[in-house]
Amino acid sequence: GAPVEVDIGGIKPGEKLTVEWRGKPVWIVRRTPEQLANLKKNDAQLADPNSERKAFPLPEGVNKETRAIKDEFLVVVGICSHLGCSPSDKFVAGPQPSLPDDWNGGFLCPCHGSTFDMAGRVFKNKPAPDNLEVPPYMFLSDSRVLIG
Ligand code: FES
Repeated sequence: GAPVEVDIGGIKPGEKLTVEWRGKPVWIVRRTPEQLANLKKNDAQLADPNSERKAFPLPEGVNKETRAIKDEFLVVVGICSHLGCSPSDKFVAGPQPSLPDDWNGGFLCPCHGSTFDMAGRVFKNKPAPDNLEVPPYMFLSDSRVLIG
């Protein structure tokens, strides 16, 4: 599949844009400062907080702590590592049905309840084995990203 060029200039803080790359949904989430600050809080509950597993190694240039090249913009493939469903946005922090009590925002897979944080890292108490994949990408300018 060819690389996909995306204009990210219109994404507001806290919003997500979905594009298609190689037949897969790729999410671009512009994270708020609060969402970024919250990333550290769930480390102990995550299956692979530092993305060290080999299933989906982080591409070159991606910051391990935020799983992004520019911290503000998360770019991940929106496919659950369990059986391939597409998780739903649960960006609002705080207790909610089906989510851990100390929820800090992220994604919930509707199929079997796997949860992911705002960096696409999976919580270890549910079936998905791995974090969401970060595809190879680069910034062409402040507002344009090339995925693939
Ligand atoms: Fe996502 Fe099973 S496919 S939890």
